[in-house]
Amino acid sequence: MFQVSVVALDEEKLRGTVVVFARAKGALLPRGKPLNAALGGAVDRAVKNSRFVGDPGQALWITGLAGAVGQILVMGLGEAASLGENDWRLRGVDVGKELDERGVAQAWVVTEGPGKKFDPATAAGALLEGLQLALYRFERFRTEVKPHQKPAFRKAVLAVPGRDVGEVRRRVAGVSGLAAGTDLARDLVNLPPNIAGPAYMAREARKLSRLGVKVQVLDARALAGLGMNLITAVGAGAAPDQQPRLILMKYAGGDKGAPWRAVVGKGVTFDTGGYNLKPTGSLETMKSDMAGAAAVIGLMKALALRRSPVNVVGACGCVVNMVSSRAYLPSAVLKSYQGLQVEVGNTDAEGRLVLADVMAYVIRREKPAELVDLATLTGACMVALGGLYAGLFSTDDRLASRLLEAGERTGERLWRLPVDDAYAAKTQIADVNNNGRRYGGASTAAAFLKKFAGRNPWAHLDIAGVALNEKVPEDSQFPVKGATGFGVRLMVNYLEGVR
Ligand code: BES
Ligand code: MN
Ligand code: ZN
Repeated sequence: MFQVSVVALDEEKLRGTVVVFARAKGALLPRGKPLNAALGGAVDRAVKNSRFVGDPGQALWITGLAGAVGQILVMGLGEAASLGENDWRLRGVDVGKELDERGVAQAWVVTEGPGKKFDPATAAGALLEGLQLALYRFERFRTEVKPHQKPAFRKAVLAVPGRDVGEVRRRVAGVSGLAAGTDLARDLVNLPPNIAGPAYMAREARKLSRLGVKVQVLDARALAGLGMNLITAVGAGAAPDQQPRLILMKYAGGDKGAPWRAVVGKGVTFDTGGYNLKPTGSLETMKSDMAGAAAVIGLMKALALRRSPVNVVGACGCVVNMVSSRAYLPSAVLKSYQGLQVEVGNTDAEGRLVLADVMAYVIRREKPAELVDLATLTGACMVALGGLYAGLFSTDDRLASRLLEAGERTGERLWRLPVDDAYAAKTQIADVNNNGRRYGGASTAAAFLKKFAGRNPWAHLDIAGVALNEKVPEDSQFPVKGATGFGVRLMVNYLEGVR
């Protein structure tokens, strides 16, 4: 477990490893200066004798000091005046990686003032969030975990001005809740498909009942009985123990009369494409096709841990898209739960089918005031936006702009793309067709979903490009390898921000 404590800054009390921050040209920020003075200007000298220029993320280690403070990490911030919340978060990631690589178990972090834009606790909270998220590891399938594969860094002592201690302390538990939710989502995505199938997802969701989340799971028979023929068809090709599940989670943290808001996740625990089989090269990452559902489960966990004052219903459609004698076929016509008849243009456009039934079910049953879905829905969105932004599609400008703002605050950024019926695929013999196109494919998928979104405000987040970093990336919204847990922090921030 990662431990955090918050103490009033006093340079006399600093011990062991200390982290301080510097701006462009290497100048120490104000709160690091007393330490520098106490060390007779050792920090300034080290900066001067190095190539350190205080660029964002640049690190300078000063080691072998003789006193109570044995080593100092100077972390560059760049232009300190223009720092935003997400800059602090990313520097937290950088600090976490530095400390971890050096095998430092415990460190003091001298947090800095945020500039004019936001309150000091927000900067410290964002820094801590980055720090905690940087320490995530997924090593459970290594028989022998080597020392460098284990997180070394276990304890951060945040040294903040005395007046901020209370406020920063209040943030710490909330940040841990965010990290726990995000890391659960990352685990679910990183887990291989032979383990994390629909039933496993349901079991993980059920564990949230310990935190006061009401969890209900509908199995394949129940889904068929209710007439959810789209999700049933997509899951039909899977083995008997891999049959579909619809997971419903309700967290009632808000006022009794306050509206319920719905978040729906695509949970394709593996997407082979079905009879429109994916080729080698496209198959390998398809265990991550449940990242939307993982984010929804992680979100519910984070909300519960944070005791967020909101009423949220989360719903995940979990299936495996497989080839077998029972698998659904291209050109099949399926009656959706909502009522529309769907002509299957392509069995690899399975996500929109799953979402259509789950969205329609949640709308009919829970009557939410609004609905947001998260889905690794299209390669086209990935082509358009890469790993830096997720696609945002919405019929509601207010909802869209609030999500965009939450994206800027959390660094899980969104870019709005069109929802327009003109993008919808044409059907020959039914009401709608799930086919996609080479061009504008992300909007074609959104146009399909819109038909099932009802009349309430609705937004669709296409997270295909941002859910998984195959390598340690430079072009990612979050510089970590493997699953990112995209959506958890975004949605917590969005939901808590609107009341
Ligand atoms: N799960 C994929 C989308 C995807 C692709 C996610 C790459 C992450 C990385 C989705 O089910 C899919 O196969 N979409 C097709 C749609 C097409 C058949 C209309 C696609 O994008 O090619
Ligand atoms: Mn597919
Ligand atoms: Zn898919």
